[in-house]
Amino acid sequence: MKGMVFVELLNMAEAAIGEDAVDEILDRAELASDGAYSAVGNYSCSELIKLVEAIGLHVKASPEDLQTQFGHWMFRRFVEGYPGFFTDKADAFDMLEAIENEVHVEVRKLYPEVELPHFSTERFGGDRLQMVYRSERPLTHFCLGLIQACITHFGEPAEVDMVPLEGESQHAAEFTIRKAA
Ligand code: HEM
Repeated sequence: MKGMVFVELLNMAEAAIGEDAVDEILDRAELASDGAYSAVGNYSCSELIKLVEAIGLHVKASPEDLQTQFGHWMFRRFVEGYPGFFTDKADAFDMLEAIENEVHVEVRKLYPEVELPHFSTERFGGDRLQMVYRSERPLTHFCLGLIQACITHFGEPAEVDMVPLEGESQHAAEFTIRKAA
């Protein structure tokens, strides 16, 4: 994964528990990279999972909840860093439908070595969107946070349900997003 993802995870943790506590976590975690990440470097996703667990232990959050929180944080960073992706979308459904065939396609052009998930989407009427996530990486809860933050960003209330899809060779989950009546 891109170093920028690790840098942002540590930024989020520092904002919550301070730099010293984060340094302590990094010292104890015995990471291959020693916790020194360059935004443009590439690091193994298992190291991210290890960090999420270690930070979660410190703040008494489950790894799943921490992944979700991180999804919210990362979405806000994407909005700041790449505003162009967001301005031409009418609503959250438009945005979510554009991830697979537009946003992540452009991201791959910018950084050919990125590791991205696959999405398929289907709309049911005007108020329900189904999105299936598949990835080599166990980041379904990170994805949940990104989707929730996307809904918040566009300001139209909606609920997100996540159902893990078992028995697949990849990590997979089905998200159903329903606009509030
Ligand atoms: C709600 C919108 C989005 C969703 C649901 C989404 C989903 C995801 C997920 C789940 C991952 C983790 C990798 C995996 O699970 O295999 C990921 C990675 C990533 N996404 Fe998106 N994404 C969204 C928007 C964006 C936007 C707007 C950008 C703009 C730049 C972006 C750029 C990236 C990058 C750079 C990575 C890291 C890849 C790597 O480190 O190798 N995503 N995305």
